Amino acid sequence: MKRLRTAIIGMGKMGKIRYDAMKKHGGFDIVALCDTNRHNLENFTEPCFLDWKQCLEETELEAIIVCTYNAYIPDIVCEALEKGLHVFSEKPPGRNLADTLRMQSSSEKSSSVLKFGFNHRYHNSVIEAKALIDSGLIGEVVCARGVYGKAGNPNFSAEWRNDTALSGGGILLDQGIHMLDLMCYLVGDFTKIKSHVDQLVWKNMPTEDSAFAIMETDKGQVASLHSNAIQWKHKFDLDLICTNGYIALNGLLTATRSYGEERMTYYRKDLAGKTGKLGKPLEHTLCFNTDESWDLEIEEFYEAIVKGMPIKQGTIEQAVTVMKLIQTIYQYGEQ
Ligand SMILES: NC(=O)c1ccc[n+]([C@@H]2O[C@H](COP(=O)([O-])OP(=O)(O)OC[C@H]3O[C@@H](n4cnc5c(N)ncnc54)[C@H](O)[C@@H]3O)[C@@H](O)[C@H]2O)c1
Repeated sequence: MKRLRTAIIGMGKMGKIRYDAMKKHGGFDIVALCDTNRHNLENFTEPCFLDWKQCLEETELEAIIVCTYNAYIPDIVCEALEKGLHVFSEKPPGRNLADTLRMQSSSEKSSSVLKFGFNHRYHNSVIEAKALIDSGLIGEVVCARGVYGKAGNPNFSAEWRNDTALSGGGILLDQGIHMLDLMCYLVGDFTKIKSHVDQLVWKNMPTEDSAFAIMETDKGQVASLHSNAIQWKHKFDLDLICTNGYIALNGLLTATRSYGEERMTYYRKDLAGKTGKLGKPLEHTLCFNTDESWDLEIEEFYEAIVKGMPIKQGTIEQAVTVMKLIQTIYQYGEQ
């Protein structure tokens, strides 16, 4: 198995998750780690750097994984692409659309692989929902309703995630981006947007704790989203109403299990009521107790580099699409 000489830039929570997934995969030789906070490099035996530029200059690399604060993502991604390195970067793809377009421009001039961590596409419930929609069994998706909410912790307002210079936005950019990306993936391209962006509880922060959006595609499909940091019990729910049935995604498997168990329920319309009562149908529910999402993402990155396979999930085009939506939601949502 070819082993790719790889560095991880940013060794916080996500850097460590990516480190473990790459070790498990076996196709990566982790030859350098970088973090501006030396404490996050303790207990690793790999060569460590405090400065990402020095890391890229002094290490012979084929690929990098970027897990820093959002503000640094574009500089690191663009410079790595210019050096001919393959890049896997965390979401969001920068702080704003301009950052994402800058990375797109660098990517167009490069033959390297570029992939972003739209990790939720690899959750089992989402994989099953996509397969079911594509099968045509329950018809076309006509509308979607999504809630993705977390409880901000006591230190919430002081987190880097709510420092706009480092993050670029609030809960919508941090977490809601996943739900928006899934809506684009499972429903379509949204062209009309109405929104409301607010601080309903966490006042006096530069960022929102709630973003509401109602979006419509050119085909007339409608989706509504509530992304928030005031859902004191963590919640991930996505309903997809189709012409011949429905799909409900409830819960999301995470390390803490705080979003509950991950389930995908679906029902194929049977108005004659042969399989259950009208309005109270017999449903199929799939429960998932494993999360292979990190492994599948790293696998796709590896296959793209080594076998020349196309990136399907987390492309720069998907990144641009979702960042355009976020820009519009912010632009029209503020009071
Ligand atoms: N894909 C997902 O589901 C998912 C989940 C959580 C976070 N993320 C994303 O991952 C990224 C990191 O988030 P996190 O939760 O790991 O945060 P974190 O605070 O735990 O880690 C970020 C790390 O980056 C380091 N860092 C910051 N600037 C740096 C720089 N210029 N050079 C080197 N290191 C630098 C920090 O010291 C810190 O150790 C963010 O972009 C976040 O949005 C993605």
